[in-house]
Amino acid sequence: MTPRKPLKKAVFPVAGLGTRFLPATKSIPKEMLPIVDKPLIQYAVEEALEAGIESLIFVTSRRKHAISDHFDSEPELENHLSKSGKHELLERISSVIPNHISRIYVPQLSPRGLGHAVACARSAVGNEPFAVLLADDLIKSPDQGCLKQMAEVYRKTGDSVLAVETVAADQTDRYGIVDARDTVVRSIVEKPAPSAAPSNTGVVGRYILDGKIFELLDQTGPGAGGEIQLTDAIAKLLFEKRVRVHHFEGTRYDCGSQSGYIKATMAYALEHPKLRDELLEFVREFLV
Ligand code: UTP
Repeated sequence: MTPRKPLKKAVFPVAGLGTRFLPATKSIPKEMLPIVDKPLIQYAVEEALEAGIESLIFVTSRRKHAISDHFDSEPELENHLSKSGKHELLERISSVIPNHISRIYVPQLSPRGLGHAVACARSAVGNEPFAVLLADDLIKSPDQGCLKQMAEVYRKTGDSVLAVETVAADQTDRYGIVDARDTVVRSIVEKPAPSAAPSNTGVVGRYILDGKIFELLDQTGPGAGGEIQLTDAIAKLLFEKRVRVHHFEGTRYDCGSQSGYIKATMAYALEHPKLRDELLEFVREFLV
């Protein structure tokens, strides 16, 4: 048996337009919107690091320099925090990405869809398995992060893995929908109408994919919404490789939508020891 290639690379597509959050996202990338005090992209990066990822590949657009700025060191601010004795804050801003972790930024020149964004990372990934994390799907897990759970499935099986959850039967047209038996995917379709959906098992923004996907993305034309869809390339991958689903432990917040973003903010804030009591009091005022 050939040894399994370790999962060391993760792709973060962050080149979308974020139109559902305009005008807030006109100059700020959606992935930089904060949940309490950390931007969405930082939660996704931390989840990847927890899963043992050592190379972070950001697919960015011209407008997204705030993301690389966020992960760069900021000597002036660090000096200021150090001099004013704010050591805890200093630690929080300077230790996000350890030094041995590599960071690569690759451009997506125009937002032609998630599949196209992933394809832009091809030369940075090479021919090996890799993870894809969509920062706007924020997953709050009680114990291990979602990607770490999926990495364990990959380690045991060597198969590609898609994070899934059961979605409302009338909302299948918002997701990639899979038909799976015994965790093995038999078919996948992007945003089917409820009447045409093979199930109500929806793919969320975490993937572990075989490097073969890049060849298949090259052969994938525009699909749903006129965009190059990752789902369509995964449908082709099913003919060549086994793909599994993983029903993750945790709660996913769709922070690409305004209601999901606000729910995530509330969930994280209500767990924050300094915010909880004050916020509960505030929420109660609306309930009476
Ligand atoms: P979304 O479709 O949720 O993001 O893509 P969007 O297009 O930015 O948002 P709306 O619908 O206009 O509000 C999911 C993820 O894929 C990235 C996005 O940045 C987001 O993280 N993406 C999407 C790209 O990197 N490139 C694309 O061409 C499309």
